[in-house]
Amino acid sequence: MLTTAPRGTKDILPRDVEAWRYLERTMREICAQYGYLEIRTPVFEHTELFLRGIGETTDVVEKEMYTFTDRGERSLTLRPENTASAVRSYVENKMYADPAPTKLFYIGPMFRYDRPQAGRYRQFHQFGVEALGVEGPNIDAEIILLAVQILQTLGLKDLKLKVNSVGCPKCRPLHREKLQEYFRPHLGEMCKDCQSRFDRNPLRLLDCKNPHDQELAAGAPSLEECLCEECKAHFEGLKELLTAAGVDYVVDHNLVRGLDYYTKTAFEIQYAPLGAQSAVCGGGRYDGLIEEIGGPATPGIGFAMGMERVLLAIESQNLLPQFDNSIDVFVVCPGSANFTLAFKEAIALRREGLKVEFDFLGRSMKAQMKQANRLAAKYVLILGEDEVARGCAVLRNMSTSEQTEIPIQDITSILKTEVQSHE
Ligand code: HAM
Repeated sequence: MLTTAPRGTKDILPRDVEAWRYLERTMREICAQYGYLEIRTPVFEHTELFLRGIGETTDVVEKEMYTFTDRGERSLTLRPENTASAVRSYVENKMYADPAPTKLFYIGPMFRYDRPQAGRYRQFHQFGVEALGVEGPNIDAEIILLAVQILQTLGLKDLKLKVNSVGCPKCRPLHREKLQEYFRPHLGEMCKDCQSRFDRNPLRLLDCKNPHDQELAAGAPSLEECLCEECKAHFEGLKELLTAAGVDYVVDHNLVRGLDYYTKTAFEIQYAPLGAQSAVCGGGRYDGLIEEIGGPATPGIGFAMGMERVLLAIESQNLLPQFDNSIDVFVVCPGSANFTLAFKEAIALRREGLKVEFDFLGRSMKAQMKQANRLAAKYVLILGEDEVARGCAVLRNMSTSEQTEIPIQDITSILKTEVQSHE
């Protein structure tokens, strides 16, 4: 146990970090294009925030939260998602006083006590964006385009964008009644969660994971028939903008999403080859959330992408670029006599901004050259005893195998110029 990470978590090893940084870089660059600014919120919050924000009848709150009591007897929860925290920060920091929209993005670890499998973890990472303060569907379209552009820039094709409207507090009661009418005769055969949610939140019966209940849910009355004029117009407006932007989408009336805060627009982007965990991105509008947690009535919309899933998708298609992990110079110092000189030169080169390595273990000349090759050094500087006695060092260009003798006092200036011209 001491030598294994907790179930559902994993290390991101140095060999994998470049891929993560590439993903993050792409996301940050595109967010800058769209004017979204980064926010970093704590990884834990008061439990109450998620109970109120995400909804007490959701799987996330009922089954998946990492909740603990701290030494001051406060109930805290590791964030299972970042929307509630972003909204909490928006209210706490009175961002609503700034001109709308407030456009935020975040990248970081989230925690859910989920059943681990490929693409599903207990600690996972989300990249997400939230736009607060705009009521109309134009911002919904912008947000969806941002998600699509990121996935396309990473090279992913065959993405499926599903959109739906989940209605608003005006039209939901009618749908709720219809759902209860439909499910009531079957309640006895449904799972315990569905039975307990039937009265409190029948919409949740539509995203139950139990196969029998899913079959029943497939025939349930759709929200589409119940949408009020305002929701219908909003949905039409969104579809028109997506079409104008040339984005392919399908309308899926069964897309309800698993969190309670959604109103009107809901969407998901799927990458089918990932199988069971094909949702790489999910989001929607949450016009009641800000008020629900104590802020002024303000509309909002956002999405989050599962970074591990996006990585799995781009790795499976060999879409990761080649990363340059080479170093500029490896200082070879055979024997211990000149180590102090080698150390001093290596440090001087690093102070000039070069990437420099040297041997720490007193290895043989051959082993040091091997190490230089392994690190893909562009140059090797050899401080052999004979050369040093003459005030010189040997500089080897590793791509041409050319070797020249250079004066020790010129090492830094020569290598600086060489490395610059190499680039
Ligand atoms: P969500 O659908 O719960 O939405 O999660 C968004 C994405 O996070 C999923 O589509 C998936 O890619 C990834 N994800 C979720 N759970 C896991 C897991 N256990 N392991 C790996 N990846 C996972 C939200 O979290 C909302 N906060 C999105 C949002 C933002 N809505 C409005 N604004």
